[in-house]
Amino acid sequence: MHNILLPSSITFGGGSLKEIINILKSMEKERPLIVTDSTMVSLEIIKPLEEYLRKYQISFEVFKDTIPEPTSHSILEPVQILKHGKFDSIIAFGGGSPIDSAKAISALATHGGNMSDYKFPFVFNKKSIPIIAIPTTAGTGSEVTKFTIITDENTDEKMLCVGQGFLPAAAIVDYELSLTLPPRTTADTGIDALTHAIESYVSKKANLFSDNQALAAMKLIFPNLRTVFKDGGNRKAREKVMLGSTLAGIAFSNASVALVHGMSRPIGANYHVPHGLSNAMLLPTITDFSISGAPTKYANASKVMGIADLNDNEEISNKKLIDELFNLNSDLKVPTPEKYGINKNDFISKLDTLAKQAIDSGSPSNNPVIPTHDQIKKLYLKLW
Ligand SMILES: [Fe+2]
Repeated sequence: MHNILLPSSITFGGGSLKEIINILKSMEKERPLIVTDSTMVSLEIIKPLEEYLRKYQISFEVFKDTIPEPTSHSILEPVQILKHGKFDSIIAFGGGSPIDSAKAISALATHGGNMSDYKFPFVFNKKSIPIIAIPTTAGTGSEVTKFTIITDENTDEKMLCVGQGFLPAAAIVDYELSLTLPPRTTADTGIDALTHAIESYVSKKANLFSDNQALAAMKLIFPNLRTVFKDGGNRKAREKVMLGSTLAGIAFSNASVALVHGMSRPIGANYHVPHGLSNAMLLPTITDFSISGAPTKYANASKVMGIADLNDNEEISNKKLIDELFNLNSDLKVPTPEKYGINKNDFISKLDTLAKQAIDSGSPSNNPVIPTHDQIKKLYLKLW
């Protein structure tokens, strides 16, 4: 038996942003706090949302100072704003960071405490101020997941926080918001979404529902990733990658991610590498390590993405998958840790910490092959 958790409403398609008015009405909410970041405001990506709200005389305020890879400290000010501003809802607008921030802000403003109190293995299932999530990148899938990731700035740990209490009440998935996304962010967030699909498909917590979401996501994302990287204005490709990202979010919210994410978060936290980029650095190597634990599923994924031919056997399909993941990184210009500017000696000196943080996140235990602490250290070294 599997209990599937989803937002009560998911609205998608070009121009669906304007549905915000009907969604607020149906939720009987009339005073939202918009949680976003300064880029959304300075590039005026948020302008149409503000215009719709003003047109329908909905009183709102904007908190625009969420940061990439949000920390326990970065969410304290908006918690106070939410608590004292008589708001009845949050509109989380932007990439994964504003949406993840909004989830933490809602939980803390409603139930108090520190973000470390909400860290996995604690499971947060209480109702909080409802969130309408509007992603502007096709990547994190945070609009449909019951997870948020907040960094503890004292330990540099990326804390995975889990539970129904972090699930947005509604999501609006409008690919038009992603049309102006720069190529680097497009690639990084796109590989993150692809990783969600692949990892949830091979996860030990996978089920028939999540498998089907994951396969549909791979089919939408993989063949269009290079296109959106090279030709960001391609509406058809953007639409497919955006929907694929949401389906991948549904898949991993209900089946979890695995070793790539487990090892990616410590790199991100210690070296400030964007989440999608550290996933991309790891995906080919970790897939190679994990294939023996789920060879049939990886081969099927390879076929669904059009990498292997339908009549290729399992071994050939999996070999083609690994080669193609390396090719994809090369085509999407994913740097190695060295090219990104990480100091190798420093990285080596932190290997034990990185491996411990990876295991503590819980994600490696969902992997088809569950690695030991020493195996994780060796895998980190393989990236160099
Ligand atoms: Fe991710």
